[in-house]
Amino acid sequence: MEIKNICCIGAGYVGGPSMAVIALKCPNIQVNVVDVNQTRIDRWNEKDLNKLPIYEPGLDNIISKCRGENLHFSCEVEKNISKADMIYISVNTPTKTEGLGAGQAIDLKWVEASARKISEFANGQTIVVEKSTLPVKTAQTIQEILNCSNKKKNNTKTFHVLSNPEFLAEGTAINDLLHPDRVLIGGNNEQAIQSLCEIYSNWIDKSKIITTNLWSAELSKLIANAFLAQRVSSINSVTAICEATGANIKDVSSAVGADKRIGKHFLNPGPGFGGSCFKKDILNLVYICNHYGLNEVSNYWQQIININHYQQKRITGLIISKLFGTISDKTIAIFGFAFKENTNDTRESPAISISLELLQEGAKLKIYDPKVSFEQIKKDLAPNNQTLSHPPKVNNWEFYNDLYDATINADAIVILNNCEEFKDLNWSKISKNMRLPSWVFDTKGFSNTTEAEKFDINIWSVGEG
Ligand code: UDX
Ligand code: ADP
Repeated sequence: MEIKNICCIGAGYVGGPSMAVIALKCPNIQVNVVDVNQTRIDRWNEKDLNKLPIYEPGLDNIISKCRGENLHFSCEVEKNISKADMIYISVNTPTKTEGLGAGQAIDLKWVEASARKISEFANGQTIVVEKSTLPVKTAQTIQEILNCSNKKKNNTKTFHVLSNPEFLAEGTAINDLLHPDRVLIGGNNEQAIQSLCEIYSNWIDKSKIITTNLWSAELSKLIANAFLAQRVSSINSVTAICEATGANIKDVSSAVGADKRIGKHFLNPGPGFGGSCFKKDILNLVYICNHYGLNEVSNYWQQIININHYQQKRITGLIISKLFGTISDKTIAIFGFAFKENTNDTRESPAISISLELLQEGAKLKIYDPKVSFEQIKKDLAPNNQTLSHPPKVNNWEFYNDLYDATINADAIVILNNCEEFKDLNWSKISKNMRLPSWVFDTKGFSNTTEAEKFDINIWSVGEG
C-alpha cells in the first residue's frame, strides 16, 4: 500500500522532529501533525523559528524548508485523521499518579483517546503506528478500540497496528533520526510492515530496518532504555566509591570503557538521569515484572531508579555539609536546569529535585539555563505543582539571563548539565562576584574547574577522590 498522507497525533518532542524528518525525506508524502494544544500548534507555526515549542539543533532548518510544503501543523485532528493512509500516535504517556498501578504503570488515557478518534474518523484501510513508548501489549488494546467502530456501525474500515518505537535522544534528535543505528518495526501484517519500511528506506539502509512481532518491538524499546539507564546508575554508583577511596571516575570510566565488550559510551557520571523516558520506562518494566510474578527481576530493575535517587540526595547532602552544615539564607547559583544540554526539556531533570531540596533547606537560588524559560522553571518549582512529592515551602529563586550575573554574592555554584557555556568559564570574573569561602559543585565533571582553584575557589567534582 503506497502511503501518500500521514497524520501524526501529538506535536511534542517525539512527534514534531520525527515528522519533520519524514517530510524532509519524503517530499511526495503530505504530513499533518495535529495536537489538541492550540498554543503548542501556534508555536510550531511561528514565523520566528526561535519560537518553536521545542529546541533541537537543526530542527529550525527542516521546518523552514518543509512547513507549508508537505509539513503542516494544526488542531484539526478529525479532518486530518480522515484523510490519512497512515496515522502515528505520538501522545504523552506519563506514569499513572493515581489508581491501579499508580507510580509505576503508564497512563494510557491519551493513547486511548487517540485510538477512539481514529476509530471514528479514519476511512478505508489505515495503518496505525505506535510511536509513543508504551507498555507491552498496548497494540492489542489499540486494535480492540479501533475495531469497535466497525462493530457498532457495521462499516468496513480496516486497521493494521504497527509498533515503531522511537530511539531519538533529545538534543541530538535530528541527527538520530537522519542516521539511526536501527529502525524497529513490529507488526503482524506483512503488507503494513512493508509500507512503513518503504517510507524509512527513502533515507535509511534496509539492513538497518529490523522487523519483529508487535510484542518484541514494544518490549525492545523498554529494554533499550533500561540498559542505558542501568549504565548511568552503574557509573554514578562508582562515583561514590571513587570519592571514598581516592580513585578518579574519569580514569576508571575510560579504563573500563576501553574494553570493546563494554564500550565507551554512556559512562559519564552526573547527578542522575533525567528526561521523559528512562524513569518512566523502568517503572513500567518493574510493573510488568510484578504483574507476571517476576519479583526478583522487578527488584533488579527497581534498583536502577533507587541509585538515581540516591545520587541526587547524595549531592544535595554534600553541598549542605561543605557549606558548614547549613545553607539557610545562603545564595546558590544553579547552572543548567534542563535534564541535559541542547534541549529546553526539564522533565524529570535532576535540577528540579536538587533545587527543591536546596530551597527546603532555606537557600536562595539564582538559576541560569540558556535554553529553559522562566515560565517553565516557575511551573517546575511551583509550590502547587501536584507532581512533586515535596513542593517547596518558599519560592526563593530568581531567573538569570546571564550566568555571570547569577554568581553575584553566591556562596556556591552547582553545575547540573553539560551546556557548552559551562566548559570554559571565566573563573577570575566569577571569583570576584562570589562570597568567601566560595564553592563550585561540578556534578558532571565537565567544567574547567582546575582553573577555578587558582582563584581560591573550593571545588567538588563528581567522582574525584
Ligand atoms: C533516551 C534514550 O537515549 C533514547 O534512545 C530514547 O528514545 C529516549 O530516552 P534522552 O532521555 O532524550 O534519550 O537523552 P539521553 O541522552 O539518553 O540522556 C538521558 C539522561 O541520562 C540525561 O539526564 C543524561 O544527562 C544522562 N546521562 C546520559 C548521563 O548521566 N551519563 C551518560 O553517560 C549518558
Ligand atoms: P513526547 O515527548 O512523547 O513527544 P509531549 O508531551 O512532548 O510527549 O507531546 C505529546 C503531545 O501530545 C502534547 O502536545 C499533547 O497535547 C498531545 N496530545 C495528547 N493527547 C492528544 C490527543 N488525544 N489528540 C491530540 N493531541 C494529543
